[in-house]
Formats: sequence, structure tokens, C-alpha cells
Amino acid sequence: CINQSAMDSVKMEKAEKYLSDHKIRPVFEYLTAHIIKTRPSHPLDAMILSLQELKANGLDGKKKPTVIFVLGGPGAGKGTNCQKLVQEYGFVHLSAGDLLRAAKQTDSDEGRLIAECIKNGDIVPGHITISLLKQAMNKDLDAIYLIDGFPREIKQGIEFERDITPCRFVLFFECDEDILVKRLLKRGETSNRTDDNEESIKKRLATYHNQSLPVIDYFDCYDKVKKINSAGTMDEVWDNVKKSVSSLL
Ligand code: C5P
Ligand code: MG
Repeated sequence: CINQSAMDSVKMEKAEKYLSDHKIRPVFEYLTAHIIKTRPSHPLDAMILSLQELKANGLDGKKKPTVIFVLGGPGAGKGTNCQKLVQEYGFVHLSAGDLLRAAKQTDSDEGRLIAECIKNGDIVPGHITISLLKQAMNKDLDAIYLIDGFPREIKQGIEFERDITPCRFVLFFECDEDILVKRLLKRGETSNRTDDNEESIKKRLATYHNQSLPVIDYFDCYDKVKKINSAGTMDEVWDNVKKSVSSLL
């Protein structure tokens, strides 16, 4: 009898550890409470339904939008292909860079800080970018958002997923650096961007290697990264994008 109770307590400890290690205690408690309260005649079906609801709305009951992060080096084709995905699938495209370029126009310390970061290829503090994204996403919670050029560093990704919602998956545009440089210099002839010049491009690529590439490894650990070869022509890259996205939806 003593052995039995010792064994039970070991089992209990293991179960407790499992719940806290896998951070599923709140989900487990929510589901159990729901079943106790509603006493459904098919508890397993009811649990599956409430799990689906939970996935869509989160534990706080608020509906969350669907998010796809679009990452890759500068000039890898993120913006161009996001626009095509908008036409093909009706997604909503939010470019973190575009939101920051619009915000830098304001005559404020924050506007000046953003302008300085962009010119130097540095990363704007995450809370600024996240708040711009949040404002833009609040407009439609039913949309599927393509968030282009974000997160630029692991910290931003963790903060976004904690405060807004976990991403569904990450589209990663892979391309060699010499091709990126050629594309950016070409774009610089007409883009009017303060950072499409040789000096800024060098800094942007350094930031990309040091801070942004580790984001891919981070999401890879969760098996969320879909790599897309973006070294070819526009049509070739678009073909690769379509194949990847249709296999994920
Ligand atoms: O993505 P895009 O090339 O438009 O970004 C331009 C610049 O905007 C980046 O080099 C960086 O200075 C800033 N940016 C940022 N954080 C992001 C996205 C862009 O600081 N998440
Ligand atoms: Mg872009």
C-alpha cells in the first residue's frame, strides 16, 4: 500500500513536470473546466472543438489573425512576391519596412530615430515596429497577414508571438549575396530609398547575417520554415512561391 502511494506520487510529479515543461497546463485546465461545465454527451468531440476554438481565439478568448512571416535578405524578392500572393490568395500584405518608412516622416524623435536606423541598415527597436504592425492588424482579424521583413531579430519574433499571435509558418527567400547586391543597386537607380546605395547595402547585409539569419534557425526548430530559392528570374521565383504556399495552405 505504501509502495502504491509512493508510486502514485512519482507519477503525479512526472505529470506535473510534463504539464509545466510543455506549457500546456493552462490549455489542459481550460479544456477540463469546459468539459466539467458543459457535460457534453461526446466529451472527446467537444474537446476537439474547443481545442480548435482555442487555437483560433487564444486563451483570452480574443480572436487572433493568421500570420505568415516573410523573411530573406534585402532584395530577395519578399515585397514583389507578397504583392503577387495578395492577388492570388487575397492575403493582406504588411511590409515592416514600408510601415517604418511612413512613420519616419513624422517630425518627432521617434521619426528621426527610425530614419537614422534605416539609413545605417540598423534594426529599429522592436516595440516601435510591433506597435505599427499591431495598429495595422487591428483593422481586420479575419485576414491572413503576410508580414514582410519581420522579425528582423529573434527578440522581435518572441515578443510578437507573445503579444499578438504565433505565426503559422515562415516563408524564407534564399538567395546569394552577390545577386542581392546587384538587385539592390539596380533598384537604387529608381527607388529613391535612402538605403539602396553601396554603403548602406553593406551595413544592411551585415545586420542581416548577424541578427536576422538566426531568426530562421529559431523558427526552424519549430519546423515552421519553408525555404524558397529566390535566385532565379521573377517568374521562376514566383513559381517556387506558388508551389510552396499551396502545399502549406
Ligand atoms: O525590409 P526593408 O528592406 O524594407 O527594410 C528597410 C529597413 O527598415 C531595414 O534595413 C531596417 O533599417 C528597417 N527595418 C527594421 N525592422 C524591421 C524591418 C525593417 O528596423 N522589422
Ligand atoms: Mg521590401
